[in-house]
Amino acid sequence: MTTALTTPIMSGKEIVDLSRKHTLYEWSAQSKVDPIPVARAKGIYFYTPEGKRFIDFNSQLMSVNIGHGDERVVQAIAEQAATLAYANPFMATEVRARLGAKLAEITPGDIDTFFFTNGGAEANENAIKIARFFTGRHKIMARYRSYHGATAGAISLTGDPRRWAAEPGIPGVVHVLDPYHGIERGWESAESSLAMIEETIQLEGPHTIAAFILEPVTGTNGILVPPDGYLVGLRKICDKYGILMIADEVMAGFGRTGEWFAVDHWKVVPDLLCRWERSASGITSLSIFRTRFSTEDSPTTAIPWDARPRWPRFASMRKID
Ligand SMILES: Cc1ncc(COP(=O)(O)O)c(C=O)c1O
Repeated sequence: MTTALTTPIMSGKEIVDLSRKHTLYEWSAQSKVDPIPVARAKGIYFYTPEGKRFIDFNSQLMSVNIGHGDERVVQAIAEQAATLAYANPFMATEVRARLGAKLAEITPGDIDTFFFTNGGAEANENAIKIARFFTGRHKIMARYRSYHGATAGAISLTGDPRRWAAEPGIPGVVHVLDPYHGIERGWESAESSLAMIEETIQLEGPHTIAAFILEPVTGTNGILVPPDGYLVGLRKICDKYGILMIADEVMAGFGRTGEWFAVDHWKVVPDLLCRWERSASGITSLSIFRTRFSTEDSPTTAIPWDARPRWPRFASMRKID
């Protein structure tokens, strides 16, 4: 069943003019934005109100993984909305139970505990909190060629220039260089890049570093696939110094690199892994991060993380099925 609007009320120009007048576009000089008006989408295509068709090579924000308007997902959302549109986070629901169990099947290694958030940045924020909480350390290492989100902590972790306007950001973030150094210098070896990271860890004081966060395959900073040995070596360094490894797979996860998760290509199991709405093919704002720790490991029941997912997750459940 679909209730998509087939006859647009506004023209493409009206939509663009009003959107530009009253809404802000992200990461853009507002006077320069020139958005495409989108009225509907199906499969690999999206359409303007006037019916001009585009192939959606970008899957919108690299998120509509199974294509637009999949009837199974549309139906699951409608059914769930009619059955139970909201339950507070202290409740247990069948969709919560089943989605957690299903995710435990597809996620690598011994990780089987999940926390649902509303977006990627929020997943990363909570991952930082957990890492600090479990280790009792405060520093987080991140890489320069990275994007981890736009909230206070996530934009501080972000290494690319989107961070600059938000500085000074949260304290305790230490950025390190990537193995990739731009078009002219290219790649360095996994070994030399890892040696630089280990030296930085030693100079910062390993006992002060809670976590190392990275995109296993870097997304908006250039689709950078690390050299073999890099992720495995980083995992070893993290283990050596008791530093938690956080894989930010907000962009690379859920099948976008050919495996369920990018880390699967190298059989690396991070301690925390962050995902977002790609989990729900862009349709609902499901995000998860998963952790190797049982919540029972927590030294207190006053666990300092929080999220208010706004939508039950049955759509994702169906998609994975
Ligand atoms: C790797 C990565 N991390 C985090 C985020 C932030 O996700 P969100 O926009 O849902 O907060 C993004 C967004 O594209 C991302 O690509």
